[in-house]
Amino acid sequence: MTGGATASARATSQYATTTGNLTARMALHSYGTNPQDWFAWLGERLPLSGDVLEVGAGTGELWHRIGYRPRLTLTDFSPAMCARLREVPGARVLRCDATHLPFRTGVADAVIANSTSTT
Ligand SMILES: C[S@@+](CC[C@H](N)C(=O)[O-])C[C@H]1O[C@@H](n2cnc3c(N)ncnc32)[C@H](O)[C@@H]1O
Repeated sequence: MTGGATASARATSQYATTTGNLTARMALHSYGTNPQDWFAWLGERLPLSGDVLEVGAGTGELWHRIGYRPRLTLTDFSPAMCARLREVPGARVLRCDATHLPFRTGVADAVIANSTSTT
């Protein structure tokens, strides 16, 4: 992939067929010096009830790390990521592009899009 590729093209080449690149990137977080883990920080700020939609949810790591689950819809454009997301108990999983979400306004109480490209 060249330096001139769009963020979306780079995401497609990294994530479409494998979860390995994302898993390797997340392993780097173990070298972080922040006293609070990112997923724990985020989990403290999410609603404890209602509907949460995550766009570009990757491997769904957040939901394996925090101790509760609201009603969840998880989306990603990668078939490989969606296969992993189906391992999150109780979650509805949809494969779709973040730039063309098939949801009406107000469908969720909170929407998360963490490190997801839309260009
Ligand atoms: C860096 S990972 C972050 C995963 C997750 N949000 C997290 O924080 O662990 C980016 C994810 O967004 C997905 N993604 C990137 N651009 C997307 C787009 N335009 N539509 C849907 N998914 C996208 C990728 O397939 C990848 O799973």
